[in-house]
Amino acid sequence: METDGLGQRGAESGIMNIQWYPGHMTKARRTMQEDIKLIDIVIELVDARAPLSSKNPDIDDLAKNKFRLILLNKVDMADEQYTQAWENYFKERGFSAARINAKTGAGMKQLTPLIQEVCREKLERDKKRGILNRPIRAMIVGIPNVGKSTFINSFTKRTVTKVGNRPGVTKGKQWIRLNKSVELLDTPGILWPKFEDQQVGIRLAMIGSIREEILNTGELALRIIDFMKTNYRQLFENRYGIEMQDKAADTLAQLAIARNCKLKGDALDYDKASLLLLEEFRNAKIGRITLERPDL
Ligand code: G4P
Repeated sequence: METDGLGQRGAESGIMNIQWYPGHMTKARRTMQEDIKLIDIVIELVDARAPLSSKNPDIDDLAKNKFRLILLNKVDMADEQYTQAWENYFKERGFSAARINAKTGAGMKQLTPLIQEVCREKLERDKKRGILNRPIRAMIVGIPNVGKSTFINSFTKRTVTKVGNRPGVTKGKQWIRLNKSVELLDTPGILWPKFEDQQVGIRLAMIGSIREEILNTGELALRIIDFMKTNYRQLFENRYGIEMQDKAADTLAQLAIARNCKLKGDALDYDKASLLLLEEFRNAKIGRITLERPDL
């Protein structure tokens, strides 16, 4: 999946120089500001493997005065014990939150009642004014690759009728009617990742929210190895059938041997081993992993 507008390769310094070009996002931000005016509730998708890094705090400002719901997506790839902790974390901070798997649709059934619950005030206000059956309007937002399109498709497949440009309905926007009470704007709002903290960029690269070309793959692989050694050593050793070494580079060499990543003349192919590790990590083939924890 394309992740437009993210960063550039810092001269020779790979991972240390993740840059963001705000210019690319100016238009997206403006569009989102317009779209947000039309809706009642902002449904924000974050990646359950890195719920804070995959969240752009600017949405708090953009979505001021709107109802809010945070969905931890890709729960199938995240470490279950921390997913629950993250859900609690957001709830403790006054957000409504739930866990979903947009790919399989797991957890989606609870969403309509939850959306109604979050927007209860609006429904009551409408009722007082004698407005009946005006659907709640919702919009999906999130940084690239958190699963926005998958989420919308997953809903579309089920119920739905498009409610496009009929008179009286906002011109030019496509709405997907989820059911009697909720309509979803069919284009998601794309937020930009925020790299104020370098660790955020690294985590997003690890889970694949940033294109790997903008980072040094070898460096990223070493970071993954270090992280795995501290947090999920057993998973790593089970997957590759090797023992983790003191130095990450030595572990990478072991992995290259174990997976037969070789160049001509039998030298180890570290690039190939790094890419293999990155791909397996991102797809949860090594196991279910969460990169950040609410208590740390
Ligand atoms: P975006 O619109 O927010 O940019 O994200 P998109 O829906 O394109 O999803 C990005 C990738 O994440 C897709 O994989 C999608 O299938 C996957 N994905 C979305 N939600 C979930 C989930 O809950 N669990 C898992 N395991 N994956 C999820 P892809 O590699 O780009 O495509 P594909 O392999 O599905 O074809």
